[in-house]
Amino acid sequence: MSVSDLGDEPVVVLLHAFPVNRGLWLPVARLVGQAGFRVVVPDLPGFGASPVSDQEPSVEVMAQAVLSDLDSLGIDRFCLAGLSMGGYVAMAMLRQAPDRVSGVALVDTKMAADAPAARDNRYAVANRAETGDSLEFLVEAMIPNLLSSVTIARRREVVDTVSGWIRSNDPAGVAWAQRAMATRPDSQSDLAGFERPALVLAGADDTISPPSEQRQIAAVMPDAELVLVPDVGHLSAIEDPDAVAQALIRWARRATD
Ligand code: MLT
Repeated sequence: MSVSDLGDEPVVVLLHAFPVNRGLWLPVARLVGQAGFRVVVPDLPGFGASPVSDQEPSVEVMAQAVLSDLDSLGIDRFCLAGLSMGGYVAMAMLRQAPDRVSGVALVDTKMAADAPAARDNRYAVANRAETGDSLEFLVEAMIPNLLSSVTIARRREVVDTVSGWIRSNDPAGVAWAQRAMATRPDSQSDLAGFERPALVLAGADDTISPPSEQRQIAAVMPDAELVLVPDVGHLSAIEDPDAVAQALIRWARRATD
């Protein structure tokens, strides 16, 4: 996979959301790097510069790809943050390599598996992405859900950047990721068993992973701080990089003390 690797240890790994790429995290990565961390930001399989996987779609395959990149970079232990789909991959990494994770930050994500209607919708989106001639339908469907009304009204450059990321995707990568997310398991017991420092962070206006859900995640984790960022929607990392970076730096220091 293709990764950005900035700064000196300890390591913080940042996993991006669907249907964007590692650019989502780069403003936060720079701030976390300036605070004294080595920050690794991969493009997940099928996004940005990383090719689509030829394996059966699953978040476990994405987790294996990230772990294998970290092995190649000589990284054993790391603080792990994932935003939405990146959070699902982080939860799969907790299942596969719990002892390598010094702390976990779950950002605008969900611990539950999909309900049947959500799963059906993913297969419909996957089929449409593969058979259509453009991803414009995804831009139109997702922008109002990915960004808060405040961001949409006041930060045209963020809307344009995220729309551009969605349009530039390989439709095969979009389809593969939707099928992967559709099969992901419920992760509540994995999170309940993770005793090291956790951060549960989300935009206060996130409608995809709303604050009520974030409170539930924080409540099942033994050592979690909950942070809700005002005026921010689902893509908190690009909507308010300063607030997200400050919370991550505090958590990563706690996890590596
Ligand atoms: C994301 O932002 O990664 C997606 O909203 C996740 C999902 O579709 O569940």
